[in-house]
Amino acid sequence: MSPFDVDAITLAGLRERQSAKYRAYPADVIPAWVAEMDFPLARPIARALHDAIDRSDTGYQSGEGLREATVDFCEEEWGWTVPGARITGVPDVLTGVDWGIRLLTSRGDGVVVTTPVYPPFFSTISDVAERVIVDVPMARTPAGGYALDLAGLAEAFARPEVTGFVLCSPHNPSGTVPTRDELSTVAALAAEHGVAVIADEIHAPLTLAGTEHVPYLSVAGDDANALAVVSASKTWNLPGLKCAQLVSTARTRPVVHDRLPKEVVYGTGHLGVIATVAAYRQGGAWRAQVLGILDGNRRLVAELLAEHLPRARYLPPQASYLAWIDLTEYGLGEDPSVVLLERARVALNAGPTFGTGGAGHVRLNMGTSPAVLTEIIGRMGAGVGAS
Ligand SMILES: Cc1ncc(COP(=O)(O)O)c(C=O)c1O
Repeated sequence: MSPFDVDAITLAGLRERQSAKYRAYPADVIPAWVAEMDFPLARPIARALHDAIDRSDTGYQSGEGLREATVDFCEEEWGWTVPGARITGVPDVLTGVDWGIRLLTSRGDGVVVTTPVYPPFFSTISDVAERVIVDVPMARTPAGGYALDLAGLAEAFARPEVTGFVLCSPHNPSGTVPTRDELSTVAALAAEHGVAVIADEIHAPLTLAGTEHVPYLSVAGDDANALAVVSASKTWNLPGLKCAQLVSTARTRPVVHDRLPKEVVYGTGHLGVIATVAAYRQGGAWRAQVLGILDGNRRLVAELLAEHLPRARYLPPQASYLAWIDLTEYGLGEDPSVVLLERARVALNAGPTFGTGGAGHVRLNMGTSPAVLTEIIGRMGAGVGAS
């Protein structure tokens, strides 16, 4: 039996949630923007959280079980052997990326991102860490997909001011998963030019059927000037509980140990640690069901777009639950999400916020039931008047 009934999900039930997704827009808008999923919490996680509340266990986190659970999950999932001492709990992935940049590069240095990309990277690099963004747009594949522009990265890494690269793998918003060969090339280029790599792998456990995720550090090796940030938060829908894991190499471990401020580590949520351990250890059946639903949803998006918005361009993602949709042929301007919010009452992420290549695009969150997804794309089609 499946862990939950996806068809029991209703918009009325979802609207009772108080999280950002369901509170940012009026009740007549269907939210399909921020990366929260609509599925009910996995039972083993809910149980672990209820147990913690029942024993009034709401103090500071001790990190109990987090390293061991992360080590075991990485080994079982990717055959990636990580010594427990290399894992440090941090509040969330963005904080891990921010501190990765601060620890491995210097103020004023250039840090590469591959646009279009997860928008908060821009402010983290420039406003928070005070580095300079170096844009290496993703290359386009003949099929209309995205890939790392390895020649562009080589050129950027060779610039003397460039000392860092935020690798988003799997890539948000395109859902592309870099191959082992591509990652080997990145690692070789980074080593050659002395560029530190901070790998954001938050979406990795959501890699879908037919694609293999390869952890960057498993390719780059122990000597690499690199860090990875992983988390159960995206996969098991726990971002409000504040727990991610910063993974270092033998080379970067002393830097993290000596220079990562203790308050960053203490900021990790106690309930987040408890939920993460439950997710990594007991969340397998729930994740398997979700991966099946997302596999169906990525194809359903293609079918629904063909029916309701036939001039939209979309390639099903290899990982996660974000659909990156090109609506330029509809002439809805730079930011079609504005028009779709107004006319379709659907909240999507605005393409231009993802940087170069984002104009005319929207990002749709398909981490929901097929019924809600059908309603969303039906509304979009009616709103654009294209059916
Ligand atoms: C690529 C990427 N990194 C980081 C985050 C944010 O994660 P966190 O809430 O753990 O900071 C997201 C959220 O969707 C994301 O897609």
